[in-house]
Amino acid sequence: MAEPIPMREIDTWPEQKLRGHRIQGSRYTSREFAEAEWEGMWTKVWLLLGREAEIPEPGDWQREDVGRESILMVRQADGGVKAFYNVCQHRGNPLVDEAKGHVRRFVCKYHSWAFMPDGELNFAPDKEDFPEGNPCGKIRLEELACETFAGFIWVNMDPENCVTLKEFLGPIWDDWTRMGIEDWVRTSAKTMNLPANWKVILDNFNESYHVPTVHMGASTEFDRRKVQGNINTNFKETRFDLSDEGHNRMVMEGGYGVGSTDKEGNIIEPLASLLHYWELDPADFKGNPEATRKAVQDAKRQLGPGRGYTHYAYVPDQQLTDAFHYTLFPNFAVSLWSDGFHFLRARPHYEDPQQCVFDNWWYSSPASLQSADAMSAGARRMAGGLGGGNVEEAEQEIFDYGEGWIGPGIDQDVEVFVKQQRGFRSRGFKGVYLAAQEHRIRRYHELIDDYIEGNRPAAHSKQ
Ligand code: FES
Ligand SMILES: [Fe+2]
Repeated sequence: MAEPIPMREIDTWPEQKLRGHRIQGSRYTSREFAEAEWEGMWTKVWLLLGREAEIPEPGDWQREDVGRESILMVRQADGGVKAFYNVCQHRGNPLVDEAKGHVRRFVCKYHSWAFMPDGELNFAPDKEDFPEGNPCGKIRLEELACETFAGFIWVNMDPENCVTLKEFLGPIWDDWTRMGIEDWVRTSAKTMNLPANWKVILDNFNESYHVPTVHMGASTEFDRRKVQGNINTNFKETRFDLSDEGHNRMVMEGGYGVGSTDKEGNIIEPLASLLHYWELDPADFKGNPEATRKAVQDAKRQLGPGRGYTHYAYVPDQQLTDAFHYTLFPNFAVSLWSDGFHFLRARPHYEDPQQCVFDNWWYSSPASLQSADAMSAGARRMAGGLGGGNVEEAEQEIFDYGEGWIGPGIDQDVEVFVKQQRGFRSRGFKGVYLAAQEHRIRRYHELIDDYIEGNRPAAHSKQ
């Protein structure tokens, strides 16, 4: 990948005009609406689907499902990746049932047709018996558009009309290139089958209005600005950006010291341990915890690249301490911290709009994983890392709602998702009433409608 261009200040994204949208409950429950979404939107957009690290060698493949489709991503002899629908072109049997593997050829378990990793049919029993001619060399697996970026594999079911992935991602491309995410390691991967529409999840990650109530124990009596936590959830001090491409970015100050002192004003764990790691003395910040944010930014900028945190040289100061939340249209949200990539994705169920598949995964920068001996787990969490210093890719755990916990913090969101879905079924719900700080939700729904009506955003259209 090309050398990233360093950035010192966060760039500004364009102003967007919103039309206004009441967002009725039926958008989350109706089969007709889900069908319109599938035909108009899901089959027209780039989807983040796989990870290059899962398929390093030619012939390695990975399968992921989205809605009614099952998709194979296959490493090619030239090092590239191709994506195919997981369906045999003889009579429609799925080619593989497993989640990943390695093949010389994909051999269908129904009549033994065998397809090469590049999609070409290489063997069919009794090939002389086909009135339309020998299918070998003629029939191919049906291919999707496929590109790689940030170590992820992205696919698009509309290969004739889609723009390039770079065009689709707009400003996300440069923002993420600076972070070097392609080398980051998956440290946790939990996937839950959830009884809620996929948009319930994306709506939630498109706002931070719920954070004090759901995650910080705030009540109506509390001064919401003083709620303890290492991110500043005050909307007046939060930055919101919407891109022409329909993606968005929200930046909240992090590591600003709230909740990190004892009664006497001494800096306590885990911030104290984080300061030590960056050669700062917690005693210097007694009674002045807000000053740690700038001090940590400066220390990371100065010491980081020499300690293996090479991406620190390229990113704005804020990205060294603050919480950068992105939502990529249509179904991917990520909290991007200086050393942690909190991967949140919702995929539609194959037929039921009131169910979805929800992924809660974490990736960590290699340097932060190697710091495990030098920094406490709590301090690494402040930088967005999760848990111990395991540098092996974590295996995916898949389970149904109610059968396992999906992870700290997100468990609280999940309880809301399931209940909110029930609310959306009610005749008594008359449509949302959104705050300005929830305008990313409004924009998202407008974009879904645009796709359904056949009006791709200008930035997603080839004309
Ligand atoms: S359906 Fe695959 S070989 Fe017949
Ligand atoms: Fe939440």
